Amino acid sequence: MTFTIAIDGPAAAGKGTLSRRIAEVYGFHHLDTGLTYRATAKALLDRGLPLDDEAVAADVARSLDLAGLDRAVLSAHAIGEAASKIAVMPSVRRALVEAQRGFAVREPGTVLDGRDIGTVVCPHAPVKLYVTASAEVRARRRCDEIVAGGGVADYGTILEDIRRRDERDMGRADSPLKPADDAHLLDTSEMSIEAAFSAAKSIIDAALKD
Ligand code: DC
Repeated sequence: MTFTIAIDGPAAAGKGTLSRRIAEVYGFHHLDTGLTYRATAKALLDRGLPLDDEAVAADVARSLDLAGLDRAVLSAHAIGEAASKIAVMPSVRRALVEAQRGFAVREPGTVLDGRDIGTVVCPHAPVKLYVTASAEVRARRRCDEIVAGGGVADYGTILEDIRRRDERDMGRADSPLKPADDAHLLDTSEMSIEAAFSAAKSIIDAALKD
């Protein structure tokens, strides 16, 4: 039997870093499910297809190959915006959730991160973490990240962007972002990545012993 760790939370809360670290330490497969929405959006943009035609977007979502996902080519702001638009479409979500569930059963274990892993994709996951931080802290981290990468970042614009993304993710009718009832909440506003990892590790180790 495989062991699944579900990690959800808003944009820029540190889920990605935490998930990769957990997957590495436990030797589990990792899927950043945001990339499945981003790759679908990019395929539509690349082919000049509309972003508001649910049937077309769902067709593209059904033909997605999980093996080819690469954050480096999917990180553009425009792709994130397009992804959050198609993420409201139920038939797109159905197609991507099916692919994500196929991934979740890989042996010996998996870490999936996104918005609806604990609530919809893997509701029976033995470990569910909901990683969050204040919008201000997330905007500051994203800013620092961009500057560290040699880019130029405006804190106010990024904060506004994060708030808009939160509203769209939490406000949609299908699978809105929210903690599962049995999720462990991890507020990283005043926590280092080290501290967040060690809190997550205690939770995972306890569940692995059960
Ligand atoms: O985490 P991200 O920025 O890569 O996600 C891109 C978009 O996809 C974001 O607007 C939320 C959406 N998403 C989703 O609806 N469900 C998921 N499980 C993961 C991402």
